[in-house]
Amino acid sequence: MTLTGDLVTFRADWKAPFLRYGVTDALGRPTLDIEIALPAPSMIHDIAITATHSVVLDLNVGYDFSMLTRGHRMPLRWHDERAARLGVIPRHGGDVRWFELAPCFILHVVNAYNEDMTTIVLDAVRYPWFLRLLPDGTAFEGNPVGVLWRYRVNLASGAVYETPAGDSGIELPRINEQRTGRMYRFLYAAEQPTPDEMRGIVRYDWHSGTFERYAIPPGDQNGEPVFVPRRRAKTEDDGWLLCCVYRHATDTSDVIVLDARDVAAGPVAIVHLPTRIPAGFHGTWLASDG
Ligand SMILES: [Fe+2]
Repeated sequence: MTLTGDLVTFRADWKAPFLRYGVTDALGRPTLDIEIALPAPSMIHDIAITATHSVVLDLNVGYDFSMLTRGHRMPLRWHDERAARLGVIPRHGGDVRWFELAPCFILHVVNAYNEDMTTIVLDAVRYPWFLRLLPDGTAFEGNPVGVLWRYRVNLASGAVYETPAGDSGIELPRINEQRTGRMYRFLYAAEQPTPDEMRGIVRYDWHSGTFERYAIPPGDQNGEPVFVPRRRAKTEDDGWLLCCVYRHATDTSDVIVLDARDVAAGPVAIVHLPTRIPAGFHGTWLASDG
């Protein structure tokens, strides 16, 4: 959802042309629904927008239906031979321009924006490989952790510059959504000390290039930190983070509230929930008077 109220969507399909891109306006009217032809079906989980363009991803994880007859539950795997590409399309339709990247996989984008007239920035959590089968094809290698990554796409020259931001394993990145598609400074994410744990909440500042963190106790697991702006906030990070935390020792869940400007200080409030919420996925918030 954008400042204009547009809802920007994609639909990845197993059948050619494998991808659709669409826009629905603030009144709920579909204003665009176009096909984007890909060479093969692709695992696509997220999309990014800038003020003028949308960014679609076609990376190294794709479908392989032969896996279903070899005992795998999901027909998805890493493909060395696929080209990792980022596609830039004008928000309201037009030709997609593709830009080749180093091999990678991305589940979640952080944000994107127009840096200037010719440069689009895409920030994402990037994996150097993902769902890669062992050589005998029977099982997957362990996944690595995902790392914060910045892609800078020069629309004039066609060049893409990519750089990591730190080496911390993170996932489920969120921002102040009032900054979606615009230049922004702060992001928040769940920390992954190992690929199998989601334990800790980080805040990253692009200006200082530093992470601040709140550590969740060992054994506990947390989900996505959702940013809630303070009413009449004057700065981008003036607000709170809401995050579900699963407490291993008691098999219960809490929602913790952090000051987004000072995550290292720990919770300013803890809400004990009457039922357990398994650790994991996304979250959202709604104003009580909304
Ligand atoms: Fe997701």
